Amino acid sequence: MNEQTAKESPADRPATGENVPLLRISDLAIDIRTAGHWRPLVTSVSLDLAPGQAVGLVGESGSGKSMTSRSVMRLLPENARVGGSITFRGEDVMGMSRARLRSFRARDIAMIHQDPRSAVNPVRTIGDFLTEGVRHLPRDRRTELAVSALEDVGMADARRRLAQYPHQLSGGLLQRVMIAAAVMTGPKLILADEPTTALDVTTQSEVMAVLDDARREHGLAMLFVTHDLDLAAAVTDRLAVMYAGTIVETGPTSAVREKPEHPYTMGLMASQPSARSRKARLYSIPGRPAAAYETGAGCAFAQRCEFALDRCRAEVPEPRQLGETTVRCHRAGDPDIRRTIALQGVS
Ligand SMILES: Nc1ncnc2c1ncn2[C@@H]1O[C@H](COP(=O)(O)OP(=O)(O)OP(=O)(O)O)[C@@H](O)[C@H]1O
Ligand SMILES: [Mg+2]
Repeated sequence: MNEQTAKESPADRPATGENVPLLRISDLAIDIRTAGHWRPLVTSVSLDLAPGQAVGLVGESGSGKSMTSRSVMRLLPENARVGGSITFRGEDVMGMSRARLRSFRARDIAMIHQDPRSAVNPVRTIGDFLTEGVRHLPRDRRTELAVSALEDVGMADARRRLAQYPHQLSGGLLQRVMIAAAVMTGPKLILADEPTTALDVTTQSEVMAVLDDARREHGLAMLFVTHDLDLAAAVTDRLAVMYAGTIVETGPTSAVREKPEHPYTMGLMASQPSARSRKARLYSIPGRPAAAYETGAGCAFAQRCEFALDRCRAEVPEPRQLGETTVRCHRAGDPDIRRTIALQGVS
């Protein structure tokens, strides 16, 4: 078996020359202070994004996906403390000055939120919103750019839209405006946090297609945050599966989909209805999702894992390479696990 301890600690690799990833998150830890105590929310998260690459950060509610993604922009709550490092093209994000952080947020990176209405000023027009970053250009030129950005995301009647206010647009149209705005600033990386969850199903797939097209056309990398593994698989090159504040499995999207190695990933896949399989019964992961501060001393998933041994409850598993994926599980690779979950309803 092709099994070895993965040398995954990105901090060990020098960020120089051609090897510099666009984004490198190394051993990220986020704690939050509540009622006088520090509570861990994210622990030892390491993740690389190459230029133009799309990575899906997938996991159940409360697993720390948004915290991880927001930390890239240094948008964490005031009562949070952060450990580890985040670099963007080799530059230390944590060490950026206020001025650099402003330009980083405005130009290098763009964020698309779950609720577009929370990201716009309701009393400013779509045109004003779109042209915020190009105010130094002459008015005609600004309008031209905004119209073409809206047309690129498939909005008819773009010129008229510029004079409208956010409340005059549906959620789906407003999310298209967000995508247009994100691309207009010429960033290298898009952080998309559940960008279609608030939309109805038909609109969801249209907006997802627009985002995917825009990203590919402009060669942008994307960190795509979602609880929907199938959706992430459709638009990403790699997947990182998060559970209780840590990444339990990561690898090329096709490998993680076709041959997941972590019991949690297997369970997630087996519990989602799929067009590919016609199982009468879906698998259900026992118990409820946990936050990082609710887990025990060993593997974060041990409390819910039907395959957990004493070792799993006592010792945190280090990342291991199994085939194409890197997995944090003492029992990964044991064929009994796959077989048992398959019997309970996996395709
Ligand atoms: N401001 C805060 N103060 C205290 N705890 C918080 C705060 N924000 C988030 N948390 C907790 O941090 C954990 C991770 O939250 P996060 O929002 O990153 O999860 P998520 O994976 O994005 O979940 P969802 O799918 O629901 O968006 C959760 O347990 C959440 O309750
Ligand atoms: Mg979230």
